[in-house]
Amino acid sequence: MAATTDIFKNDILKDKVLLCSGGGSGICRAMTEAVVRHGGKAVIISRSLERLEKAAKEMSEATGGVVIPIQADVRKPADVENAVAKTVEKFGKIDYLINGAAGNFLASFQNLSYNAFRTVIEIDLMGTWNLTKAASEYIKASKGSIINVSMTLHYTGTVYQQHAGAAKAGIDALTKHWAVELGPFGVRVNGIAPGPIENTVGMSKLSSTRGGYETIPLGRAGTVTEIAHSTVFLFSEAASYISGHMLVVDGAHWLTNHRPGYPEIVLNPKSSKL
Ligand code: COA
Repeated sequence: MAATTDIFKNDILKDKVLLCSGGGSGICRAMTEAVVRHGGKAVIISRSLERLEKAAKEMSEATGGVVIPIQADVRKPADVENAVAKTVEKFGKIDYLINGAAGNFLASFQNLSYNAFRTVIEIDLMGTWNLTKAASEYIKASKGSIINVSMTLHYTGTVYQQHAGAAKAGIDALTKHWAVELGPFGVRVNGIAPGPIENTVGMSKLSSTRGGYETIPLGRAGTVTEIAHSTVFLFSEAASYISGHMLVVDGAHWLTNHRPGYPEIVLNPKSSKL
């Protein structure tokens, strides 16, 4: 994670246990590192164990904290149950959950296959539900907190993003439903909706749907550190009465309602995959 880590007290999340899907790379990796840097311990899960192991080692070395990698496909209930069980076996509890695992690409309605639409819904929306279902009793037991990672592209009808937009709209709904249903157990549930964040796969994949920096009121892309700081804030006592909220972290970008038109996309789905 980049600099500016001294904004909060470094023990603000002391001994808290985080389970984060998608924590092996990008925004969710920075979110995880920030939690560990502020006293927490973390388990990161995704499909690629190799990527997770590398990320966990690097984060542990950078922070002096504990980060454990566990392979899991969030689409598979057995995998998320196993990840939750192993987290509790290792740390005895789960305080925080970040639902960040996601898949995305640009595809027109014409080029979006039945399987492609289902795949993104299954990873993003079903994955968020699956992991939270598996961890919910532990989060309740610790009066913990959940952050669902969303986006802003479904606030308007962004081209070539209906699959991800539908999934994230569902995730935003879950954020509200869980805030209401888990609130009586002392659990807070919020979302973070990042805008264009530099040096991320999302930025490189989706920038053509958003226009350049001139379309962002703050005049620049955000950084993963800025998303990480929002994460520490939402998990911390500073946000103790904030639940059911969607924190948009986008330099006011989506409010400009910028319409870049219909960017050229690769028409062969197979060749435009990550
Ligand atoms: N355009 C259109 N369709 C695409 C596509 C693209 N760029 N990329 C994948 N698909 C389609 C596939 O063709 C397939 O449909 P088909 O069987 O009808 O051909 C379907 O999506 C599933 O793809 P597959 O590669 O089998 O699934 P997967 O589970 O291995 O991959 C993805 C998941 C699709 C999300 C993949 O792009 C991925 O893993 N991306 C990396 C993570 C990522 O995107 N992060 C988000 C950053 S914003």
